[in-house]
Amino acid sequence: MDRIAITGGARLHGEIPISGAKNSAIKLMAASLLTDEPLRLTNMPRLADTRFLARLLQRLGTEVIEQDGPDGTETVLHTREIVSAFASYDLVRQMRASFNVLGPLIARTGHAKVSLPGGCTIGARPVDLHLEALRALGASIDLHEGYVYAQAPRGLTGGRIAFPFVSVGATEHAMLAAVLAKGESVLQNAACEPELGDLADCLNAMGAKVSGAGTSTILIQGVDRLHGATHPVIADRIETGTYALAAAMAGGEVRLTRTRCDFIDSLLDKMVEAGVEVTRHADGMTIKRNGARLQAVEIETDPYPGFATDLQAQFMALMTLADGESVIKETIFENRFMHAPELARLGADISVSGGEARVRGVGSLEGAPVMATDLRASVSLVIAALAAGGETTVSRVYHLDRGFERLEEKLGACGADIRRIKGDGEAEE
Ligand code: EPZ
Repeated sequence: MDRIAITGGARLHGEIPISGAKNSAIKLMAASLLTDEPLRLTNMPRLADTRFLARLLQRLGTEVIEQDGPDGTETVLHTREIVSAFASYDLVRQMRASFNVLGPLIARTGHAKVSLPGGCTIGARPVDLHLEALRALGASIDLHEGYVYAQAPRGLTGGRIAFPFVSVGATEHAMLAAVLAKGESVLQNAACEPELGDLADCLNAMGAKVSGAGTSTILIQGVDRLHGATHPVIADRIETGTYALAAAMAGGEVRLTRTRCDFIDSLLDKMVEAGVEVTRHADGMTIKRNGARLQAVEIETDPYPGFATDLQAQFMALMTLADGESVIKETIFENRFMHAPELARLGADISVSGGEARVRGVGSLEGAPVMATDLRASVSLVIAALAAGGETTVSRVYHLDRGFERLEEKLGACGADIRRIKGDGEAEE
């Protein structure tokens, strides 16, 4: 398997264009199941996760064409008819967002059989809220042998769904199903992440009637059919925050373009508090740090607009070299500190207790072999390695490839000493 080798110490100078958001793109791709006309998604990232979902959609009947457009890479998805309403365990296990095909399949065909995703490294991640939402829209749901059997032979009907707590995936799933239900649906305590607004914009461009996305109450007036559309995927706020933190960690001056500051306000505020210079522009931001040691600051992850859990690992990497002790509270997932022992291999001083990590800043880090455990954890190791003395090798790079497009190229263009070592095909322990 491939590894990434980084020799730390180089300051970063240059510009990084941000790609389309992975976590939006994969839900928008699922929306293509809702119409028999083509959905053209522009600003599409090319990632392992989007390729994976494309393969699943092809099995369900979608024609998928990847092409270059005037504004970068595009994907056209055309589901003339659903040829199968079945998503197997093998497919859903490998990428849990595949589960989100369930709602569109029921909405379009009246039935579906989709595997339950199971847990993952960052937490148990049940799908009870997804299933309750689909039941509230009139689907009958049975669980047997690890599969969800869903039926709505006369179509879905609008309903009121009050989520007991905020779930990005369940809100998106309810929206994907309710757009073709008969009558009005109200989603209360809905997630407000920018990806929700992007999904609503895309569905509305396809003829849906969704309002209030981005607030905690979303209203959906069901329509009989949706049509084709062209929709640009929003900028990836997690990639944006990741490169902002990489620039702060390595030092230097990096401009991030094709993105939005307001998507990561809660991170930028914390970075400024720690001593990083942030200049906001219409199409992104410039991140600057010139040598001075950063101050330790505390963070707590929360649903949007709070501090994103998907940036917690990267922020922890920054805090390993800060002056003082940083307390990092993780409130979204129960097991999202697996990067801490790997950062400790580079010399970081971190203790974890339940949902809280204490990071006592050290004077320097030293390169070492480390292992990626999930997507965001793996990039936190890359960030730490940029400032560590000597060479760090990150193994299990397939985690990174799921969600970061051309990472070595983007960081390398700014002067980072980073390269991929092609694997020999042998499994890593
Ligand atoms: C999305 O996951 C993202 N994934 C995650 O990013 C992100 O960390 C998360 O939202 C929070 O922002 C995608 O968009 C593909 P949730 P999701 O439902 O939708 C619990 C990454 O690295 N819960 O908001 O699965 C759940 O266990 C990934 O790109 C239930 O209990 O997150 C968690 O504790 C990792 N029952 C909390 O809610 C349910 O039915 C929030 O999860 C659903 C969720």
